[in-house]
Amino acid sequence: MERFENCHPTNSIGKIADELTGWLGIAEAAARDAGEFLAESKASDIIVTAQLERDVKLKNDLESEKRIISVLQKSSRFSILSEESGMIENGAKNQKLRWIVDPLDGSVNYINSLPLSCVSIGLWNMDEPVLGAVYDFNHNEMFTGIVGRGSWVNGLPMKVTQTADRRRAILCTGFPVGSDFSIDAIRYFCEQIRDYKKVRLLGSAALSLCYVAAGRVDAYFERGIKIWDVAAGLAVVLGAGGRVTRLLSPQLDTLTVYANNSLLPVPCL
Ligand code: IPD
Ligand code: CA
Repeated sequence: MERFENCHPTNSIGKIADELTGWLGIAEAAARDAGEFLAESKASDIIVTAQLERDVKLKNDLESEKRIISVLQKSSRFSILSEESGMIENGAKNQKLRWIVDPLDGSVNYINSLPLSCVSIGLWNMDEPVLGAVYDFNHNEMFTGIVGRGSWVNGLPMKVTQTADRRRAILCTGFPVGSDFSIDAIRYFCEQIRDYKKVRLLGSAALSLCYVAAGRVDAYFERGIKIWDVAAGLAVVLGAGGRVTRLLSPQLDTLTVYANNSLLPVPCL
């Protein structure tokens, strides 16, 4: 059965708050290293290893992931959940904390030279986002956030917008791999998005969330998104004063997420 709940707006691991900045630094270093590798790969180096129905897998996904895992394992003992490798247990003392990694979000954009892709690394405490780093290597923008503390782009503080009316708001959304494209599902989707002034499908959930945090758009919604696509971005939205509502599905790695500036009404998910 689906479970509907809000993410906690304040950091639930206050006791170890002094370490948060250090962990954010680790996530940032890993994201930057992988992002620089992805940015330097020439179009001719991009090898598609699997063409799935509405998804692709690239050799660079794996290489990026290898680099990230190496940095994270060198600097911390938390387990790692990563898109390509699944769960990697690290024998950590604190089993509640885990890194959640997307080595390349926006893969289809990446192979088509659409400059909207990034590396995304979040740290979660059980089911709650704690912090995140999202590196947009096309624009050299490093988005970071710590829940309850703040969010930054290249070190400068970010804040969500003040828009309270959907008719004046911009929504980012998308169709995850495995979306239901039946007429009924599309009709329901249209009902959920039609009140917004503008709707954008950027092809990167992580960047869409960072743009909510940066006040570039007002809200993000996606049904059935994978946890690694949003793990870091949700922490960045919360750090910037936004609100996150989600439905946890029986598949623990899949969510329905609505994130906004905390003034817009929450739709029926
Ligand atoms: C995709 C992007 C996209 C979302 C898809 C994801 P990927 O991630 O986040 O915005 O709509 O559901 O799969 O495959 O490029 O890592
Ligand atoms: Ca990915």
